[in-house]
Amino acid sequence: MRSIAVFSVKGGVGKSALAVNLAHAAATLSARRTLLWDLDAQGAATYTMRLGPSGVRSARKGMADGALLPLIQSSEFSNLDVLAADGSLRHLEGQLLEDKAKKLKKLLKSLDDNYDRVILDCPPGLTELADQLFRAVDLLVVPLIPSPLSERAYAQLIDHLGREHRNGPAVLPVFSMVDRRKKLHVETCAANPERHVIPYAAAVEAMATTQKPLLASKPTSPAAKAIAELWADIERRLVALPA
Ligand SMILES: Nc1ncnc2c1ncn2[C@@H]1O[C@H](COP(=O)(O)OP(=O)(O)O)[C@@H](O)[C@H]1O
Ligand SMILES: [Mg+2]
Repeated sequence: MRSIAVFSVKGGVGKSALAVNLAHAAATLSARRTLLWDLDAQGAATYTMRLGPSGVRSARKGMADGALLPLIQSSEFSNLDVLAADGSLRHLEGQLLEDKAKKLKKLLKSLDDNYDRVILDCPPGLTELADQLFRAVDLLVVPLIPSPLSERAYAQLIDHLGREHRNGPAVLPVFSMVDRRKKLHVETCAANPERHVIPYAAAVEAMATTQKPLLASKPTSPAAKAIAELWADIERRLVALPA
């Protein structure tokens, strides 16, 4: 099993949309047994997948007890399950501070037999949850809206990882919501030509109303193609990781 956190210190940068789209790509394009794990109490990824709280027990309690499997729900797509968010995750930080530093790593390990790929949609911020994620996942995908401030926040993240998580995950920065009509976007992308680019697209914005991943609603759109290419690259990186 390999795990990917869609992470940013910033909110509103396209994490949840990307997490849904990557999880759907993992399940459909790569036929991986995939779990989308929504860790953000706002539940944007859960909602986009047309789901709500599991109703069994709260997500935070399930995490505290190390019993995740009963919380997991099927989605309407084959190979794609969801561990839904609920309001209890607002108190996750306090819970994690009481738990061991490797609690999240242990929880991910408990999914090892059931899934090939776990995609985590994370709340923003360099919190205890973030530090636990950095100890647990194989890859961080970091969406960045092109601007000097985003680059600065990204540099701070890399600095933090270098100082506190020497053996931390690989990091893949991805430009998000790129508007080619904006000079700043064009220039920032040109300065980092190796990075993937997810365009600003009405079809992505509409995921909140269609409640469908982009590759299901608009598979031939440029943004869907960008998602498919990004996923193929992520899959190559994961396969290349040492066992
Ligand atoms: N590539 C995109 N093009 C257009 N709108 C986008 C794109 N990605 C995300 N959005 C929209 O931007 C807003 C924030 O995205 P979201 O994925 O919720 O960000 P985050 O999870 O980082 O807070 C949402 O309204 C979403 O629909
Ligand atoms: Mg979000």
